[in-house]
Amino acid sequence: MENAQHSTESAINTQLHKMASSWIQGELGVQVHHTEMKAKVEALVGHKGQGSEGLKRAAEFYAQHAIKTSHPMFMNQLWAGYSESGVLAESLGAALNTSMYTYEVAPVATLVELQVVELLGRLAGFPQAQGTFVPGASYGNMMGLLCARQKLKPEIKNQGLQDRLQVFVSKDSHYSFLKAANIMGIGESNVVKVDTDPRGRMCPKALNEAIAKSKKDGARPFVVGVTAGTTVRASFDPIDAIADICEQEDIWMHVDGALGGSLLFSEDKKKDYLKGIHRADSLIFNMHKMMGVPIHCSAFLCSRPSHLGKTTGLSASETSYLFHDDHAPDLGMFSLQCGRKADVLKFWLQWVELGLEGFQNLVDQIFSRAQFAENFIQNHEKLEMIGGPRESVTVCFQYKHYRDHRDDELNRSIRDTLMNQGDLAINYGTVHERLSLRIVPFNPDLKEEHLTDLLEKIVECGDRLTS
Ligand SMILES: Cc1ncc(COP(=O)(O)O)c(C=O)c1O
Repeated sequence: MENAQHSTESAINTQLHKMASSWIQGELGVQVHHTEMKAKVEALVGHKGQGSEGLKRAAEFYAQHAIKTSHPMFMNQLWAGYSESGVLAESLGAALNTSMYTYEVAPVATLVELQVVELLGRLAGFPQAQGTFVPGASYGNMMGLLCARQKLKPEIKNQGLQDRLQVFVSKDSHYSFLKAANIMGIGESNVVKVDTDPRGRMCPKALNEAIAKSKKDGARPFVVGVTAGTTVRASFDPIDAIADICEQEDIWMHVDGALGGSLLFSEDKKKDYLKGIHRADSLIFNMHKMMGVPIHCSAFLCSRPSHLGKTTGLSASETSYLFHDDHAPDLGMFSLQCGRKADVLKFWLQWVELGLEGFQNLVDQIFSRAQFAENFIQNHEKLEMIGGPRESVTVCFQYKHYRDHRDDELNRSIRDTLMNQGDLAINYGTVHERLSLRIVPFNPDLKEEHLTDLLEKIVECGDRLTS
């Protein structure tokens, strides 16, 4: 299928967007085995430079073989689509080569980041928010754990770990919490996976029990990682109920809103899914998922000002080569990075282009597309929702044939066959111990006819493989 890019096509008139639109045109892209691709990639470079001709060849090679993630049939990951303002922002940032540590070298970007942090804090109900952009939610989850540790045991920053600290997350939480525990010396075994209900949401009762057990075992519970939008089912942990427990136990509450943080832009959805978010101590939010901004664009926020600076700050003697003006809004002190890209520009230019109203539309349209796909599946005799009705923005389903465990194998074959042919790109995960194909309808250019086409292709392929 031709790439039907894109809603703001009329605006693609500058040289930059002419070039970018030529890269994203065409087919979705077929899967080439890595051994074959490796030889092609290696052949492009050598001891001798190839100048601008070589540059052109390599760029064309890259565009030709890249998977076109703006193609409507790309629903493999929790992001998709082409953002004209995002491409402009990336180019601006690269051309001007901005780094975010001091106001002196990043005057506009610094103020833009402060403005966006203030906006996100306001939406989340954190009137005194302090925040920083980070390269992704994995990093942001680690920041949440670090801030929690800083509050509980500030001496660890200097002296290292002495107690057995424990992190509580749901069974369906993202693996980045394990990585953070590894990096921080907490140990993966001290990430306690709390039971979920049948809808994939953390059970407050199970959390209470897990915390009590941890204390009885002599460990120190120090943070609960609440998932607002799990990776496969997009389930939302009950924030308010978990906040009650955290308050009672004096435990930091970090919200992993990598996926669901975008619901802050839709008042209705915020009420339904993020109730209690204002009670969080920290929040990570990926604008590069539902908002269609290019990767990475992630903001980490603390709801109160002092925690972030205390966690990331260093003494003036260590940093005096860089920070010269105590009164300047130098953001470097609030980040674990030194040099840092101006990722905020991508969100900010999109804000200029669409306004807050446009962000709300993006979110609401994703829900409508997900609803359309769910209805289609429920009304089709050969398709079945997995794990019950849709939780929010992703749709988990199977082609059904055998009605037993062999359907898992069949569905994997259907997806691999269609991916290898370059027909579509979707992914799968496990829900209630069954393989579940997952639709992620985030591309702003995705239409109902694309979803119909995708689901019909899956049925045709399933019929073919079982005939
Ligand atoms: C719930 C959740 N948290 C964290 C992450 C990690 O985000 P990132 O890829 O930005 O590190 C993901 C990735 O999909 C996710 O779904």
